[in-house]
Amino acid sequence: MNEEFSNINWYPGHMTKTRRMMEADLKLVDAVCEIIDARIPISSRNPDIDAICGTKPRMVILNRIDMADPVRTRAWADRFKARGFSVIQTDCKNRKGITDFSPALNRLLAEKRRRYAEKGMAGKPLKAMVVGIPNVGKSTFINQVAGRKGAKAENRPGVTRGKQWVTVDQGLLLLDTPGILWPKFEDPEVGLRLAWTGAIKDDILDLETLSSRLMAQLWQDYPQAIRERYKLEPEDEAAALDGMCSDSPTARGYALMEQAARKRGFLLSGGVLDTERMAKVLLEEYRSCKLGRFTLEPVEG
Ligand code: G4P
Repeated sequence: MNEEFSNINWYPGHMTKTRRMMEADLKLVDAVCEIIDARIPISSRNPDIDAICGTKPRMVILNRIDMADPVRTRAWADRFKARGFSVIQTDCKNRKGITDFSPALNRLLAEKRRRYAEKGMAGKPLKAMVVGIPNVGKSTFINQVAGRKGAKAENRPGVTRGKQWVTVDQGLLLLDTPGILWPKFEDPEVGLRLAWTGAIKDDILDLETLSSRLMAQLWQDYPQAIRERYKLEPEDEAAALDGMCSDSPTARGYALMEQAARKRGFLLSGGVLDTERMAKVLLEEYRSCKLGRFTLEPVEG
């Protein structure tokens, strides 16, 4: 990933610059393929994308399906299809779903190709670009579509030299440089989810609060996985919550983390529970899918 853009603080100036560059690239393409993280399909999108793309035909690429809850991934795919997007599901780590891209793009652009044919331009190539927030898998996806092994696709905004195109299929080209969208986390819940998945740095919150909130969320959505991994019994849960302000997800999650730390034997001198260590372990085990494959944003409505 391009260092400048992965570690950037998204000040308004950066956003404006990035948006202008993307708008310039958009003029060159017939379709926009937006990569989102299947684990957090709402928070990994930038809602401004609809305004930026206007009426261009759109595809949603639900990536990292190897890390997401398959049932929820299917529900999200259906939801995006119902909204008029072409949808594919990919696991770029294991090259799954990549071959669905070209047929889906061809279907998405069939009308445009027909119009070209009517005008006697049947051979004119159709063009698309990939967009998404940092770290969502844009570069890996482009490399795989291009059949490349190395990291040649660059997250390199603001290219003024000639554009590089990757051939996806006969008459279908993909811009080699993805459009980078900035993560939008004015909503603290969105910020939390982006930090849990590692899309933004952990330091939006102190580690124990970040992890407590994750614990509370997992306990709500996937209690069985937490019970099994940390050997928490229903009575542990009751004990953890005894006397707690159960309306506070941070307090609930922290209490559960204390129980988990006890079960794991994470103790400091004097028998004090090492909740900081537990917080790190929980985040690491969530991110590496040792706890399971979770989607923390269900389809609603
Ligand atoms: P970006 O261009 O959108 O910034 O993302 P990039 O392709 O650089 O991918 C970021 C990280 O996510 C990479 O891991 C990449 O391998 C991983 N990744 C991409 N797609 C998937 C997927 O579908 N499933 C999983 N599990 N991981 C995915 P990295 O550790 O930064 O690099 P690497 O050593 O794996 O190449």
